[in-house]
Amino acid sequence: MQITRNTRLLVLTGAGISAESGISTFRDKGGLWENHRMEDVATPEAFARDPRMVWRFYKARYEHSLQAKPNPAHFALVDLEKQLDRNFHLITQNIDNLHTLAGNRDPIEMHGSLRRCFCTGCDAHYAMEEIDLEPEIPLCAACGAPLRPDVVWFGEMPYHLDRIDSLLKNCDVFLLVGTSGVVYPAAGFVMTAKYLGAHTLAINPDASSKTEAIDEFHLGKAGEVLPRLVREWFP
Ligand code: APR
Repeated sequence: MQITRNTRLLVLTGAGISAESGISTFRDKGGLWENHRMEDVATPEAFARDPRMVWRFYKARYEHSLQAKPNPAHFALVDLEKQLDRNFHLITQNIDNLHTLAGNRDPIEMHGSLRRCFCTGCDAHYAMEEIDLEPEIPLCAACGAPLRPDVVWFGEMPYHLDRIDSLLKNCDVFLLVGTSGVVYPAAGFVMTAKYLGAHTLAINPDASSKTEAIDEFHLGKAGEVLPRLVREWFP
C-alpha cells in the first residue's frame, strides 16, 4: 500500500512501540502484568483498597518513564506527521509521553498519561512534576484530598472516544503499531476501520497478533520496520 500526502492516515500505538525505548510491555515475557496483578494496581477498586500500593506502582513507572527516550519508531511517526500534516492522526494506548517527547503535535492519549494526576476530591488536574511525590499518597494543594494518577484503569472509560470514532469514520489507512489487540475498545478499532473501508496495516514481531482484520502485516520490531516503511513511502 502506497501512502501519499493525501492519504488520511490513522495510527494506533501500543506498548510495543516503546519496547525499544526500554519500557516494559504488559503481556510479553517479563511484562508489567507478570509482576503485578492488574486487580492490585490498575483498577478503581485497587485504589480505594490500597492507594499506597497503587501510588508505589505508578510512581515507579513515572520515574522509569523519565529516563526513557523516543526510539526510531517514534521519530518515524513524527516524520509521517510532517509529510501528511492534517491528514495524520495518532491514537496511543501508551501513557509514557514518548510520542510528545518525539515531537508529535497532538497524540490522542486514550489511556491518560503518567505525566498527569488529578484530585479525587475537587478534580483539580496537575502535572506530576508540579506535585510533591514524597508523601505515600500525594495530596491536592487546593482541597487536601488524595490525588490519583491520570491513567485510565480497567473498568473506566477511555478518553477521547467520540473524537476517535469520528477519525475511524474518516480514515483511508489504519496503522497498528505494537499492540496485542486484546484490550477493548482499542482492540476493536481495526475492525471498525476495515469495515468502514480503510486499508489496515500492522507492525508486530509476534505473528500471532495478525488477525483477519489486518490487510497488510509487517513482521518485525517497530524501530526497524516503521522507519523503513516511511522511507519507502516518502523516499
Ligand atoms: N515493536 C513492535 N511491537 C512489539 C515490540 C517491538 N519492538 N515488542 C513487542 N511488541 C508487541 C508484542 O508482540 C505485543 O503484541 O507489542 C505488543 C504489546 O502488547 P501488550 O503488552 O498487550 O500492550 P498493549 O497492546 O499496548 O496493551 C493494551 O492493555 O494493560 C492495558 O492499559 C494497558 O494500554 C495497555 C493495554
